[in-house]
Amino acid sequence: MIRSVVRGVGTALPRRIMKNAEFETLVDTSDEWIVQRTGITQRHIAADDETTASLGEAAARAALANAGLTPDDVDLIILATSTPNNTFPATSVEIQERLGMSHGFAFDMQAVCSGFVYAVTAADAHIRAGMARRVLVIGSETFSRLLDWTDRTTCVLFGDGAGAMVLEAVESAGALTDRGIIASSLRSDGSHREKLYVDGGPSTTQTVGHLRMEGREVFKHAVGMITDVVEDALSRGGVSADDLDWFVPHQANKRIIDASAKKLGIAEDKVVITVHLHGNTSAASVPLALGAAVADGRIKQGDLVLLEAMGGGFTWGAVLLRW
Ligand code: ACO
Repeated sequence: MIRSVVRGVGTALPRRIMKNAEFETLVDTSDEWIVQRTGITQRHIAADDETTASLGEAAARAALANAGLTPDDVDLIILATSTPNNTFPATSVEIQERLGMSHGFAFDMQAVCSGFVYAVTAADAHIRAGMARRVLVIGSETFSRLLDWTDRTTCVLFGDGAGAMVLEAVESAGALTDRGIIASSLRSDGSHREKLYVDGGPSTTQTVGHLRMEGREVFKHAVGMITDVVEDALSRGGVSADDLDWFVPHQANKRIIDASAKKLGIAEDKVVITVHLHGNTSAASVPLALGAAVADGRIKQGDLVLLEAMGGGFTWGAVLLRW
């Protein structure tokens, strides 16, 4: 059988760091409130010359360098984003062009904060179906461009950035100890639309719109949805939470991460946290966290890793893999 094995990861962040204190001059908030309710201390904010495509390209180049590969070696690009450069063409195709690729194919994946987990699962399916041999999976977002900067309940929560992963087809006996993606579990439920959405779009208002969220309502559903889908991925993989070396959750709120890990029985020292540095970067949050934990040597070859995310839609999902 074929398994999709991680060959490399890379990240890219906008130059500008915005600390919580800066928000005190924009809206009625405080560093203390933001830290206490979310764990966020700062986020990166894209300048005019930094876009979802440019950040995605930089993360892709970093992942390829980490993998020891070039764009010539890739046959599919999947970009998870809710903040494309344009309504069309797909930003993944722009990244393909920026990488100097005229072979293979590319498409965007829109599942908001769950986008990277969805994209990794789609990449794995393409690899196992023989449609692609090496896939560049990118999560890139410029959520700062969707924010209502007068709304304190949302503008303090998000940031910009990108992360990428190269997945490669490798022959495997299918053993639990073999490297690669072991199991995935994806869910969505459109009845929660009004709790987290953007109030614009080409087919409705012909504007880009602004992000709107009933934070308390999202919070209420998050932990249950996350733990359900993680337990499903673990059970499909034939393992338990105790077997995990690393839990890499979507980085939306430290309290949601802590509550989910606690409910799943995952020890605090196995949880990768970057929300304090990046805020919620939507589809970029999981690969940014992965990139940090690989760069500092925490995640090593052979580790059992669980990725998880939940976001607008609602969408939610988890991926179990042997690094
Ligand atoms: N500064 C100061 N006060 C604030 C701020 C702020 N930035 N924002 C809200 N408040 C106030 C509220 O107005 C409210 O005041 P009131 O009691 O007078 O009405 C009070 O703080 C408490 O508000 P809550 O919304 O109850 O605060 P909560 O503890 O729920 O924290 C938060 C809010 C951080 C948004 C939390 O609910 C949360 O993280 N929700 C989940 C968000 C999330 O995970 N999204 C993930 C998906 S994102 C995606 O898919 C794009």
